[in-house]
Amino acid sequence: MNGTHAMLVHFPLGFWALATLMILVGAFVPGRIAELSRAALLPVLVLSLLGALAAMVIGFIVWPMAANLASPLTRNHILMAFWSLGIFTMITILVWRAGASAFDGTRRWALVILALIGGLFFASTGTLGGHLAGSTTPFSQVLGLMGWEIYTTFYSPLWAIALMVIIGLLCALWGFRNRQSSKIRGQY
Ligand code: HEM
Repeated sequence: MNGTHAMLVHFPLGFWALATLMILVGAFVPGRIAELSRAALLPVLVLSLLGALAAMVIGFIVWPMAANLASPLTRNHILMAFWSLGIFTMITILVWRAGASAFDGTRRWALVILALIGGLFFASTGTLGGHLAGSTTPFSQVLGLMGWEIYTTFYSPLWAIALMVIIGLLCALWGFRNRQSSKIRGQY
């Protein structure tokens, strides 16, 4: 069954890499290739989420939870898997809800920033998985440069979490106000 996880993880990693590239092309490259990237993005994102869920469910079925949680490396691997899933779920909802206007104006920046953060997170997930399977890569040193020691449980100080919650609330408030003013101008 170990092999099933190793096989299934190719789906989220491949589709997430493709979706990140499509978002960058859709946001910054002119012409037909960008149109195609924007049009095909939603199905790629949906497939990536299905692949991620399959890989995660198999991960939880194959290895006992006590064993998973005993190792900081596995804890970090699971944590990054959930963060990646969260970020790409958010991108999928944004692209689905915004439809053809997902890349209009400054909106594209939300997708670009989320895709770049998501790219960092899924690369970390895969790197940590490789460490668990005995195939280390130099990317761990990049994580080290950012202060993430992979053999110690990743930790966010309380102030950082509080700051993220405040930024999230401010963004929600900003979006709500924009929506209200668009309604007043009759554009929504
Ligand atoms: C989107 C989610 C996930 C991705 C992309 C991912 C990715 C990977 C990758 C690339 C490997 C290395 C495979 C190999 O070369 O053999 C791996 C190994 C591993 N993963 Fe995941 N993983 C995910 C979720 C999970 C979850 C949820 C768990 C546990 C509950 C888990 C536990 C493990 C373990 C224990 C290994 C080591 C396997 C071995 O020793 O052969 N993974 N993962």
